[in-house]
Amino acid sequence: MINKPGWIKRIFSGVEDYHRTMTSPERYRRFRRTLTLVMIATFLIPLILTTMLSYYTYRSQMLNNLRWNAESATKTIEAFLSELQTVLAYTVNEHTYKELIDQDNLNKVYHRLKSHYPGVVDLGIIDHKGIQRAYAGPYELLGKDYSDRECFTGATASKIFIGIVEMGYRKVPHFAIAISFFNQDAGQNWVFRSSIDATTLDKYIDKIGAGPTSDIFLVSRKVKPLLQSTSQQYGPPLSPYPFELPHNSLGVTISEERGVWDYVVLKAVSYIEGTPWALVLLKHGYLYGKDWSFFKARLFFIVMISTVLALLVILQITKLFVGRIREADEKRESMMAEIEHTSKLASIGRLAAGIAHEINNPLAIISAKTGLIMDLLEFSEDFKYKKKIGSEINGTSNAVERCKVITHRLLGFARRMDVSLESIDINSLMREVLSFLDQEALYRGIHVDLDLGDSLPIIESDRGQLQQIFLNLVNNAIDAIGKDGKVIIKTRQRDQSSLQIDVMDNGKGISQDIISHIFEPFFTTKDSGEKKGTGLGLFITYGIIKKLGGHISVRSTVGVGTTFTVILPIKTNLSRRVHDVESKSTGS
Ligand SMILES: Nc1ncnc2c1ncn2[C@@H]1O[C@H](COP(=O)(O)OP(=O)(O)OP(=O)(O)O)[C@@H](O)[C@H]1O
Ligand SMILES: [Mg+2]
Repeated sequence: MINKPGWIKRIFSGVEDYHRTMTSPERYRRFRRTLTLVMIATFLIPLILTTMLSYYTYRSQMLNNLRWNAESATKTIEAFLSELQTVLAYTVNEHTYKELIDQDNLNKVYHRLKSHYPGVVDLGIIDHKGIQRAYAGPYELLGKDYSDRECFTGATASKIFIGIVEMGYRKVPHFAIAISFFNQDAGQNWVFRSSIDATTLDKYIDKIGAGPTSDIFLVSRKVKPLLQSTSQQYGPPLSPYPFELPHNSLGVTISEERGVWDYVVLKAVSYIEGTPWALVLLKHGYLYGKDWSFFKARLFFIVMISTVLALLVILQITKLFVGRIREADEKRESMMAEIEHTSKLASIGRLAAGIAHEINNPLAIISAKTGLIMDLLEFSEDFKYKKKIGSEINGTSNAVERCKVITHRLLGFARRMDVSLESIDINSLMREVLSFLDQEALYRGIHVDLDLGDSLPIIESDRGQLQQIFLNLVNNAIDAIGKDGKVIIKTRQRDQSSLQIDVMDNGKGISQDIISHIFEPFFTTKDSGEKKGTGLGLFITYGIIKKLGGHISVRSTVGVGTTFTVILPIKTNLSRRVHDVESKSTGS
């Protein structure tokens, strides 16, 4: 007894039942279903887990790359702005208020700055009221009022201020860096202001180059953000950016969105410190790069191919496996039934032969005594009951004769355990058998057809016993037809080791309720009419066939006819057969 874990036993409870109970197609179907599901699950679960793991590893690697790109882009822009701020702060601190307000001097400072930083559009000095008191640059902006502009209010409040990109008085996108300084002469805080061309940001961002699959740009930190640099997807600076910015202003925030045509867009947003801007880095799903598409296609391909292959193999294996189990179960069941049947017949046979032997002597005595009575009656003078007694004694003799036939047949069969083997051509044996029955068939108008197979192998068997088998079968066929009909005897090689002989008739057939009894001794339906049956023909036939290592089966349809099929071995392994029959009959 194998000790299986309980859960496996529970899953396969259906199969366990198979071995204990009768075979039913539904149960095999259930077993096959369970087995298929268990095998598919055993295969698919690790495959799915591995696939998911590879997918997530690849994805997290990609997200890390994106994060790293966004961080380094943010740092580069921060470094650029911090350098610009330092230079501007240095310029303010290096000059006195008077030097800054002097137009020639301011022009010089402007040109020097512009030669290093071509993005610088102009410089201006704004007094504490917000009026531009000095200006160096290409526009006419002297005396302009900046009092309500963010750059003025912002710088006044926090020393250094960077403004969002706007058109302002210049009508080109630019942003301002404003630094507040203390005018010692006036005793007030004034503002040093520089406008920077917004395209400078584009140039910087282009230099960062996050790859062909990316769109990288700056947006203003507003509820409805505006572009601060050019975006491939959303257009030039000051175009609206259609998404809200994340609330978390620390580090890089990564999110996934559905873009045009439902393609996945990976988005990294990072706030740039000390500025009113956030950096946005978009990676388009369909353009994640050939790597990503290739990876996904390969993964999908591998999963599909292995799943299809596994399904095919699993279905075939379970079909084969369940088929074999079913075949084995059926074989075992029919073997059990046959052993049961054979041993039942053998024990009834032994009992019958025993009884036949016992009643043989009393029958001989009865026969002798009735003979004596008949003789005595013959020689005695006439008396009143002489005729009556004579006919009664006749009846008794007939009954004794019938008993004698039965005991003779039974004892003949029981005694003839010895088999004498010789080489037999089954076709000529059939012709011989038929010659015994020719007259009877002719008399009853029955046509016997021989359908004999070509070049059949010579078999090794007992001629006398084979004759008896086929005499019984053909006699039964003739009896079943009665008058006018057809019997066909067909011989064929069944396989390498056996021949098959079919005896077919178009007689009355055998009904379902009696077909299982026809091989039993004394079972007969011929119990009336002139030719009473003993019911021993098929019983003896069955016994002989088993003894010769063969097999007999019957198929019949009431009103259509009956076919008896006899299978005989080409070479009889007699010692083994006799032993088999004996051991089966003793029930061992
Ligand atoms: N070819 C057949 N067609 C129809 N019924 C058959 C056929 N062969 C046998 N049977 C049935 O099987 C029964 C048993 O046959 P079996 O040969 O053992 O005995 P029997 O023929 O009745 O008697 P006996 O063989 O002593 O003449 C028959 O009585 C008959 O009902
Ligand atoms: Mg018979």
